[in-house]
Parts: sequence; structure tokens; C-alpha cells
Amino acid sequence: MFKENQLTKEIINLKNKKNAIILAHYYQLPEIQDIADYVGDSLQLAKLSLNNNANIIIFCGVHFMAETAKILSPEKKVLLPDLEAGCSLADSCPQDKFKKFIDAHKDYKVISYINCTAETKALSDIICTSSNAKEIVESFPRDQKLIFAPDKNLGAYINSITNRSMKLWDGVCEVHDILRAERIMKLIEDNPDAKFIAHPECQDNVLKLADFVGSTSSMIKYTRESSAKKFIIATETGIVHKMKHESPEKEFIIVPSDETCNCNDCPDMKKITLEKIYNTLKYENNEIYLNRNLINEASKPLKRMLKIS
Ligand code: 13P
Ligand code: SF4
Repeated sequence: MFKENQLTKEIINLKNKKNAIILAHYYQLPEIQDIADYVGDSLQLAKLSLNNNANIIIFCGVHFMAETAKILSPEKKVLLPDLEAGCSLADSCPQDKFKKFIDAHKDYKVISYINCTAETKALSDIICTSSNAKEIVESFPRDQKLIFAPDKNLGAYINSITNRSMKLWDGVCEVHDILRAERIMKLIEDNPDAKFIAHPECQDNVLKLADFVGSTSSMIKYTRESSAKKFIIATETGIVHKMKHESPEKEFIIVPSDETCNCNDCPDMKKITLEKIYNTLKYENNEIYLNRNLINEASKPLKRMLKIS
């Protein structure tokens, strides 16, 4: 196989030859973020997958993100370099159980976080991401009963800042949900000059400690614009690559998920490698297929979201 430099060159050659575009989430490995045409959070990537002239989208992220790209651009070939790159949060909301839950709450509207399967999307009235969840919830009248799925931590946070009482599906992201307030309090004590920032997929007792709570892209913006020089960060490790690039003079401390490392990696996001990208581009395999009916049904709530934000 090629060395990393050569591999990067081969990927770029193939990409140009085939009119392909590489979209990558901020949780991807640094070397993948560096070769991507665009790096973004879930909302930005959904918009980018709709607005481009490529024939092929190589999606460097997880399965629900590549599905979203296919739903929004069904005429394009969407390839996910490892089809096993799933998401614990999306898996926590199986279609049959979710349908029963919705059927038991007939007078509720359903807001689903984009981190869910195409089938869950198809059962929803509207989709949101962590960037626009507050705006989407507030687009409904106060007296409208709402279900929020699948992330109960994000749902509880939005309930608290909008003063609503949406019914929450009992799902979590395995990467954010295990970050512990006790560990963070110790880090804050040891680094009194640092700002503590957190993603809203973290538990409520973690969010209460935060100087700032926001989506991936708003956390990056916060570290860029803040006058602070040090940040304690409760989210996935990959985000630090962009933060360091934008603010090389600042220090970033990732809240570790356990005693064994200084990292907090999403095991699924980290399944994507340069070698898998190369092979996927070369053989055009690992394609996302969805049936036409599912695409039609799942695209309605996604397009409602894009109309609002
Ligand atoms: P955002 O990119 O919307 O912040 O979501 C974070 C996440 O968990 C993606 O899997
Ligand atoms: Fe899913 Fe969490 Fe990984 Fe995002 S970080 S892909 S929500 S498991």
C-alpha cells in the first residue's frame, strides 16, 4: 500500500478524475479533515450535500449522515468508506418501537434529531440538529404537544432553555453520555483560567457546569472568538484539530472518557481511514442504497428543517 503522502495524492487524483467531493465531520481523524473538500457539523454537511455539483459524494462520517446526504441528493452516488460506521444514538431508536411510541401519542408532533436512521426520519414531522434545535422547537406554538427523539440529554437541555416539556425518547450518545461531572470539576479546579465548554449531548449535571453549551461548529466559533487562552472541552476528540488550526496559541483539554487515555473518541467516526477512502473511491463500493418511498418520506421533515434554518 502507499505511504500517507502518496495515498493522499492518489485520493485527490481519483477524486478529480471522477468528479467526486469529500465531505467530512469535525470528529474525523485529522488527516481526513485535511484532505476533505468541506469539513462541517451535521447541519453544514446536510446543506453541503444538497448544494454541490459532484457526481459522487464520499461521506467521511457515520451511516446516518451518509443516508441524509442520499435523501437530500438521491441522484448522486453516496459512498461511506466503512458501512459499519454506525451510531449508538441512531441505534437507540428502532423503527418498530418508535412507531408504537408515536401511535400512543396521537396529538403530538415529532421532532427528531438528525442523528437517527432514515426510517426514524420518515416517521417524524421535522428534523433538527444541535445547531438549530432551539429554533426548530420554537417554530411550534407553545401549546403544541411535542415528542423529541432520540437524544434525551439534548431534549432535556432544549426543554430547559425554552421552558417546554417535550416528551423525550430514551436514547443517548455513548460518547457524550459517559463524560462525568466529577472529573470535569477536578479539571476546572486544576485549571482556574480555563473556560469549560460542552456539547448538549452531555448529561444535565455536566451542562450545568459549562461556561458555554453549543453544537460542534458553535464550540469551534466560541474558542476562536473568546479572549480565554485555555479551554476544557466536553465532546469528541476530533474537534480539537480545527480549534488548534484556528487558534494555535490556545490550549485545549479534552475531557477524557475514562482513566486509560486523554481522549474521547467516537469508535464509529474513527472507523474511517485514508486507506478506506482510497479503496472506496477506486472501486466505488460501500454505496448507500435507500428505496424511493423511504427517500420521499424522509426528505419531507429534512426539507422542513432546511426551510426554517
Ligand atoms: P453536531 O455536528 O450537530 O454538533 O453533532 C455532533 C454529533 O454527535 C455528530 O455525530
Ligand atoms: Fe453517534 Fe455519538 Fe458517535 Fe455522534 S459521537 S456518531 S452521536 S455515537
